[in-house]
Amino acid sequence: MKEKFYITTAIAYTSKKPHIGNTYEVILTDAIARYKRMRGYDVYFLTGTDEHGQKIQEAAESSGITPKEYVDKVAGEVKAIWDTFGATYDRFIRTTDDDHVAAVQGIFRKLYEQGDIYKGSYEGLYCTPCESFWTPSQLVDGKCPECGREVIKTSEEAYFLRLSKYADQLMKHIEENPDFIVPEMRKNEMVNNFLKPGLQDLCVSRSSFSWGVPVDFDNGHVIYVWVDALSNYITALGYTVDGCSEKYKKLWPADVHVVGKDIVRFHTIYWPIILLALGEPLPKKVLGHPWLLSGTDKMSKSRGNVLYGDDLAKQFGVDVIRYYLLSEMGFTDDGTITYENIIKTTNADLANVLGNLVNRTAAMIKQYFGGVIPEASEKNSDDVELFEQIDKYFAKALASFDEYKVADALKSVLEIFKCCNKYIDVTTPWVLAKDPEMKERLGSVMHNLVDGILRGAKLMLPIIPESAKGIFKIYGVDVPEDLSDDICFSGNVIDEVPILFARIDEKKMLSELMPKEDKKAEKKEKKAEEKAQKKAEKKEEEAPSEIEIGDFMKVKLTVGEILECEKVEKSDKLLKLIVDIETEKRQVVSGIAKFYEPNALIGKKIVLVSNLKPAKLRGVDSNGMILCSGEEDVRIVEIASDVPNGTGIR
Ligand code: MSP
Repeated sequence: MKEKFYITTAIAYTSKKPHIGNTYEVILTDAIARYKRMRGYDVYFLTGTDEHGQKIQEAAESSGITPKEYVDKVAGEVKAIWDTFGATYDRFIRTTDDDHVAAVQGIFRKLYEQGDIYKGSYEGLYCTPCESFWTPSQLVDGKCPECGREVIKTSEEAYFLRLSKYADQLMKHIEENPDFIVPEMRKNEMVNNFLKPGLQDLCVSRSSFSWGVPVDFDNGHVIYVWVDALSNYITALGYTVDGCSEKYKKLWPADVHVVGKDIVRFHTIYWPIILLALGEPLPKKVLGHPWLLSGTDKMSKSRGNVLYGDDLAKQFGVDVIRYYLLSEMGFTDDGTITYENIIKTTNADLANVLGNLVNRTAAMIKQYFGGVIPEASEKNSDDVELFEQIDKYFAKALASFDEYKVADALKSVLEIFKCCNKYIDVTTPWVLAKDPEMKERLGSVMHNLVDGILRGAKLMLPIIPESAKGIFKIYGVDVPEDLSDDICFSGNVIDEVPILFARIDEKKMLSELMPKEDKKAEKKEKKAEEKAQKKAEKKEEEAPSEIEIGDFMKVKLTVGEILECEKVEKSDKLLKLIVDIETEKRQVVSGIAKFYEPNALIGKKIVLVSNLKPAKLRGVDSNGMILCSGEEDVRIVEIASDVPNGTGIR
């Protein structure tokens, strides 16, 4: 009988459409699930949506629909994105599912009846019109952050979970199971920041809003959304306090909960304590993965830097994005996503290394052997070296996959393909092809290449499933279900050789990816800039031969020091500078990019027209102008380094 393997993702909030960071988690979990299936495990993969809570109730209210209508819509979007990326989940649980709601009510009731949940009062600062509790740090000028009115110190009846009762037991579990929380740094955070300082009992009910699972023995209270959400891992399998399904008995405890680093605390403190109180075993492992950043920033709507999986899949293709995310995101450090990086990785790894190898090999077999994959004869030292390397990297990839270090596994798989490319360089098939006596050797080389490619392709099945299947198809081989499946390919016929991964033309792609509005705005801005420049030039030409001293006195010139300097994106003329003028640090945009490297300007003392009307250049605010000489060969006007910042010039 196959060994079971139960793997879960966090369930995504349905307050808004999930971004590519949330999607990464599902792709990572899917890759592990696919890998485990190929290692002969009976895998159960759970994912879904977290649909209760005040935020969702408010989002629904502001959209003018009921919370259920709202979550139905977002849960549909979540599922569609997970499906687009080929997630092979077995159940998509929604916390509004009837079986889940009833099971959570049972859990809450049982914990209350056995005294692990008790009724107490929740002390806080209350805003009556908003019906909201606030903590002192949430207040704005001591008032309600929502409506600005006075808050009153008050208390509300609420239920609490006795975390303190189970803290020692949990600590012991963590100590005795060093792999319970991975990576280790996450474990240390939990132990040092939360467990060692001591646990406070947790408030596990709310009565200030209604969109939640009702406490079925106390009207007006809903169950805290994290108790509701965490329970999904067992309710999805048919756990109830009155008896469990066969599925639950078979699958629980989970082999691994895959979650983001921000919610490791909930999964390694609250969740185990709920399970300890229920008398159920703890999950074997909680894997806290790092975060995907947009460039160098956290993805957020307010920053306008959010990328979505459905868009990226349309722009680049599902496997390109799967590959990018899985190779970019390490085990501990945050990763980053930008269009430029996706293009670079795709061209370097998928087009140059993998795609090129697969297509080149297939094309050579067509050219030299009419498409029929030849047999191999005895191995020579090049062949032995090739397979030694492949075996080494294959084993390395398995070891990394087994620790869920998917990016490391991927690196080893890529090495397999690189070894094959090197083997082509060493064996020079095009030279062999010229000599009829070397036909057999040429056949061996082709055979060994296909062998190497298909070994690597097996390991690519969990990462880029559709493209990896495409590789087996090219060589006329059935897609293996298990990593240990033997693959026979001698004598198979290669017909068509589709391009597996085409190189992306970076410039063209980036210009296509820029949203139309951006392009329009950019054009408009450019025109306005040109117009302004022409006007300025004209004015300059028309500068009178004499001015009054008063005219000159209108211009406020100030000494400043350049603290920071960088190029303005998408402009080859403009630099963005931060200038220290003593009273403040001014941002200025200057058209001197052609004449200075940004770093060369840092620390220089310059003269700033500091009362110039603010302007926007290429969408970047500019508050002043730096004095420069010349037109063809522009130089900034420099001031002696001992003149203090902020000194006026007259
Ligand atoms: N609903 C809770 C989880 C409850 S699990 C019982 C939640 N939802 S979430 O939608 O905010 O996040 C879902 C998952 O995506 C979490 O594991 C979270 O850490 C992860 N990520 C959110 N932003 C992320 C990135 N930018 N990068 C990688 N993962 C990210 O938390």
